[in-house]
Amino acid sequence: MLDKLTAIQQKISSSLDSIKILAELANFRVQTLGRKGELTRLLKAVGSLPPEERKELGKKVNEIRDQILSEIENKKAALEASALAESLITETIDVTLPGKTSPAGSLHPVTQFMWRLEELFISLGFDIVEGSLIETVYHNFDALNTPHNHPSRDEGDTFYIDETHVLRTHTSPMQVRTMERQKPPIRVIVPGMVSRRDEIDATHTPVFHQMEGLVIDRGITFADLRGMLDTIVRYVFGQEAKVRLRPSHFPFTEPSAEVDISCYACVTSKPGKLLPPKDDCSVCKGSGWVELWGCGMVHPEVLRKSGIDPSEYSGYAFGLGVTRMTSALYGIPTLKPYFENDVQFLKQF
Ligand code: DAH
Repeated sequence: MLDKLTAIQQKISSSLDSIKILAELANFRVQTLGRKGELTRLLKAVGSLPPEERKELGKKVNEIRDQILSEIENKKAALEASALAESLITETIDVTLPGKTSPAGSLHPVTQFMWRLEELFISLGFDIVEGSLIETVYHNFDALNTPHNHPSRDEGDTFYIDETHVLRTHTSPMQVRTMERQKPPIRVIVPGMVSRRDEIDATHTPVFHQMEGLVIDRGITFADLRGMLDTIVRYVFGQEAKVRLRPSHFPFTEPSAEVDISCYACVTSKPGKLLPPKDDCSVCKGSGWVELWGCGMVHPEVLRKSGIDPSEYSGYAFGLGVTRMTSALYGIPTLKPYFENDVQFLKQF
């Protein structure tokens, strides 16, 4: 038995010498020391020997096993070292090659424009409040005096979450929320995303951005509103840009008006000049005016519902179509590219 053992040991040592790669070494280890390996089988056989022989032989087998194990470990370290040395020679790195760059992104044109508007309002003493995209039906409609039979409440126009919650259809609900928690004087703008069940076409998408404005104080009049609209339009479209108000109706303002601006594509297309409207202008169709927002004096009923006494305070509100204004400013004819993540388009702004 002892002879057999020595023979096995010699055989193992010499085949270890001929191993040149790590994968082979791993196989070899399993074959010799694994459950079905020669040495393991021998160790099992030792169990059936008479006790005196068993002790001595068992010890010997274990010694040999430890020795082989340490030889394998040494061989492994040697193979790893030579593999590393070789790869250091063959795998050279050319440090003069240009590295991989990650192109820096840029702000979306709508975001850029929104921030620009925010700067104006901050300079005029407004606070910015945002609200959440999911609103209660109460704040989105009821508190804004929008009756049950109003078309905007229809399921075909509005995304309902459940019976009492909707994806806000405008930023106006934040008028109410602001008045509920803050006493006048109030000067806030509400920039943000709104959602409607609109079919997608060149000028409609189910998601777009608005910016609400609300000013409440003692003695606020329509003249204050008018002055504010002039300020905004001149800031965005240039000093010569003009504002025109047309009587309109919104349930939450009285009186209400639609805000038109002088056409940026023809009338104010040259900085510092006011040109006559062009008959074939694709933006204003020759009228010289472009419709941009709604506005009005906050309805006394809305003030009352929000906990503000209309006999003491008055105020105005406006809802700027931020997406529409961005298109107007940059002359972008359709809304599609805003949502396509096309870097070529976005990089221009
Ligand atoms: N919320 C209106 C809309 O989305 C826009 C609007 C009109 C806002 C008049 C106002 C306002 O604050 O006074 O169509």
